[in-house]
Amino acid sequence: MNCCKPDTHIIEEKMEPVHIPEEGRERTSEKMEQFIYPSIYESHLSNVLISNAEIKSRVKDISKAFQESYPLTEPLVLVCTLKGANPFFAALLEELSALSIPYIFEFLRAKSYIGTESSGDVKVMSADIPSLKGRNVIIVEDIVDTGGTLQKLLPIIHSCGPKSVEVCTLLTKRLIEGNGSISPKFTGFSVPDAFVVGYGLDYNEMYRDLRDIWILGEKGIALGGWK
Ligand code: IMP
Repeated sequence: MNCCKPDTHIIEEKMEPVHIPEEGRERTSEKMEQFIYPSIYESHLSNVLISNAEIKSRVKDISKAFQESYPLTEPLVLVCTLKGANPFFAALLEELSALSIPYIFEFLRAKSYIGTESSGDVKVMSADIPSLKGRNVIIVEDIVDTGGTLQKLLPIIHSCGPKSVEVCTLLTKRLIEGNGSISPKFTGFSVPDAFVVGYGLDYNEMYRDLRDIWILGEKGIALGGWK
């Protein structure tokens, strides 16, 4: 019981991301053997950046940070941004349940990428979410790249009247120009400015099914995904 926890966050500082170096893992055959993928993706992918085991371990860290940051006397509202955040979201929910943290969950669909480029025009489907009113809300993202998607989503979430809003993202990209004014409170990993796929992240709907997170190779980019 967290009888002494106040209504609002007790931890104000941000959760710093785990820094993933530029090259990811060295591509030697014995190291790569442990990373499985459908045979149709052979030669599409470059290096593994983050393994499934590393993701799962980081999900545990993030869930503990939620536990320390919010009172357990009311439900958190977790908002999943579809489609890419779905595997991360499912892993988080499982971990939060294991920690007996009460929550409600909602889904939003946002789309900004066409191929490997942000279109700059973010489309958001389903915007009125009554369960957000008066509650502590966490938006769960797969990756913050330019920050454009969140800049579009945040006013929509705020318009639903929440008590607080924070962002939790599995990845942030280390961009030369930065991620706009977006600074998530909870971040899993910071990754180099490369196009990454797997664990929900896609290239024109391809590669969401990968267990690990990879840098997409030149051949994969040239093939253009499923569309
Ligand atoms: P932002 O609006 O530029 O921050 O981009 C966020 C969205 O773009 C994410 O939710 C992803 O759907 C997509 N995205 C950005 N970078 C990548 C990437 O490297 N791989 C796959 N999708 C990406």
